[in-house]
Amino acid sequence: MANAIERVIEIREKALGEIKEAENLEGLTAIKNIYLAKKSELTALMGLMKELRAEEKGSFGKAINDTKAAIQEAWAKKAAEMEKRKLQAQLEKETIDISLPGETANVGHINPYYVIIDEVSDIFAGMGFEIVEGRDVETDHYNFELLNVPQDHPARDMQDTFYISETELLRTQTSAAQAHTMLSKGGTEPIKMICPGKTYRRDEDDMTHSHQFSQIEGLVVAPGVSLADLKGTLELFVKKMFGEKREVRFRSSFFPFTEPSVEVDASCSNCGGKGCNMCKGTGWIEIGGAGEVHPNVLRMCGYNPDEYSGFAFGVGVERIAMLRFGIDDIRRFYTNDIRFIKDFNAK
Ligand code: DAH
Repeated sequence: MANAIERVIEIREKALGEIKEAENLEGLTAIKNIYLAKKSELTALMGLMKELRAEEKGSFGKAINDTKAAIQEAWAKKAAEMEKRKLQAQLEKETIDISLPGETANVGHINPYYVIIDEVSDIFAGMGFEIVEGRDVETDHYNFELLNVPQDHPARDMQDTFYISETELLRTQTSAAQAHTMLSKGGTEPIKMICPGKTYRRDEDDMTHSHQFSQIEGLVVAPGVSLADLKGTLELFVKKMFGEKREVRFRSSFFPFTEPSVEVDASCSNCGGKGCNMCKGTGWIEIGGAGEVHPNVLRMCGYNPDEYSGFAFGVGVERIAMLRFGIDDIRRFYTNDIRFIKDFNAK
C-alpha cells in the first residue's frame, strides 16, 4: 500500500512537472495520452484496490482520484494558456500598420479618340440617329462602286489604299456604310444613321496625316431632305460639341457620291473666329465633307431618286479630338504612349 501511494505521488509530480514544461500543444497532447488515457498507469493502479484491506481502500481511491483531478486541472489550465498565447501571437501578426503607405490600384484611362466617338454618338443619338457598325475590310464594290466611283474614276487616286485581294481592301472611308445601310433598308424605309470607325489610306504620316485614322459617317434619307436639313443638323452638332457660339459654314467642293458637295467648316473655338495659329488666321476650321446624296448612289442602293433625297457627311474623329482638346499631332493617338493618355485625362 505504502509503495502504491508513493507511486501515485510520483506520477502526480512527474505529470505536473511535464505539464509545466510543455512548450506546445503537441507536447501537451502527448502528456494527456500518457497520464489521462483509459489505459494510463493510474488506471492500472486502481486494479490494486481488490488486494487492499477495506480501511485502506478509501484513502487509496481518493489519492488516485485527487491525482487524476489535479493532473486534469493543470492540463486544462495550461492548454487554455497556450490557446490564448497562440491567439495573441496571431493578432499581433495580423495587426494593420495604418501608418504604412497603401497600395495604389492602377486605373485605366480612356483614349481621347473613344471619348470623342462616345460624345458624338450621344449627340446624334439624341437627334434620333441609329448608330451603325461598319466593317474594316470592305469590297471594292461597297467602298467605291456603289458610291459612284467606278473602276477608272480619278477620285480613286486620292484614296489609294491597302488591298487585300483584287476586290477586297481596308476601307478608305466610312462612306461604305452608306451603301450597306441603304441596301439593308430595302429602298422604302427612311434612314437616319451614323457610323463611326477606322479608315485606312496610303498616306505619308505627318502631324495631321496618318495611314490609319477614323471617321464618323452620317446619312439621312427620306422624301424631301434638303441641304438646309444638313446645315441645321451639323450646326446643332457643332454647337453641342464645341460650344453654343460656334457657327458652321459650307464651301462648295466635290465628292463623287454627293451633288452638290461641300466642305464643312466650324468657326474656330480657340479665337472665336478672329483668326489665330490654330485656324491659320482664317477664323474657320475644316471638320469634314458633306452633301446631298448623289441620285446615282440612291439608285444603285435601291432608293428611287424621284421620291427620296438625302444628305451625307463624314467628319474626322481625330480632327475633332485635336480641336476639342488642343492635341498637336495626330500620331499621338496611335503611339501607345501612356503618358499622353494620362496627361489627357488629367485635363
Ligand atoms: N468619304 C469622304 C472622305 O473620306 C468624306 C465625305 C465627304 C463623306 C462627303 C460624306 C460626304 O458622307 O457626303 O474624304
